[in-house]
Amino acid sequence: MSKVSAHPDGSPLAASAVDTIAVADWNGPFPAAVRERAIAGLEAGHVLFMPQLDFAMGDAEQQLLAGLAADGGRKNISYDPVSGRAKGTAADGTTTARLATLLEEYSLGARALVTGLMPRYAAGLAFGRTSYRPEEIAGRSQSWRKDDRRLHVDAFPSRPSQGRRILRVFSNVNAEGEPRRWRIGEPFEAHAGRFLQQLRASPPGAATLLSLAGITRGRRSPYDQFMLGLHDASKRDTAYQRDAAATLIDFPPRSSWMVFTDQVPHSAIAGRAAFEQTFSLDPAAMAEPARAPLRVLERLAGRPLL
Ligand code: SIN
Ligand code: FE
Repeated sequence: MSKVSAHPDGSPLAASAVDTIAVADWNGPFPAAVRERAIAGLEAGHVLFMPQLDFAMGDAEQQLLAGLAADGGRKNISYDPVSGRAKGTAADGTTTARLATLLEEYSLGARALVTGLMPRYAAGLAFGRTSYRPEEIAGRSQSWRKDDRRLHVDAFPSRPSQGRRILRVFSNVNAEGEPRRWRIGEPFEAHAGRFLQQLRASPPGAATLLSLAGITRGRRSPYDQFMLGLHDASKRDTAYQRDAAATLIDFPPRSSWMVFTDQVPHSAIAGRAAFEQTFSLDPAAMAEPARAPLRVLERLAGRPLL
């Protein structure tokens, strides 16, 4: 049912970046062997692919999503599990409330999955946004910085991470049988090393820092500046985007996957209709904190970055 294929010019290193995990329910059971494989793979910078993990919806919910698409509701719809508010849709109050219920259900499922598979993360885990992504990726036109069809690691300009990890859970709910197609790039250390000279030469994120002055919540650390700089440097580099070794992955409908998107260069190149939950994680909760991008960048830069 699932198709995971290496890109013709993908390197063996990049091609090893997907681990298929046998998880069929958001609430487990999660046998010890599966848990061990999950945390080791995730922290090594692999995508955890769960071909049997479906975000199953009833007919009423499927009609709700189909109706949104028909209304031209193309934007991402996001939900804040902390406040319980949904935004980004032009739908009426009743529809928005029903969507919020669906997104809440996804967020709770995703949290049960993450804390069930990686129990040690529970102590350092915080909810970020939940989103529903109705729009077809392939034909979208966007500025290079916002274009997630270009390989990148995630960094949030308005929410300084202070070294916290970005962990994301995705589910393809496409009703037309269409996969969500990603590319996965090189390991983080190679990726950061490739752009390091450039990031040192111009203070990372300085331009962004100026342009965003006033809207950044909290202090932006040197770590955040490096990560924003890395995000921009890779997306801006057309030769890198053209030539980089990468693995092509098709995530079929009714499957889910999970990945540290601050560590794994990724791009989404086709597909529509997916749910997504973002978490932030204190690296102290990791089994191997030395693998966190903060620690890798500090080693490469030779100085503390917080
Ligand atoms: C991204 O995080 O770059 C986009 C992923 C997706 O929407 O599939
Ligand atoms: Fe991304």
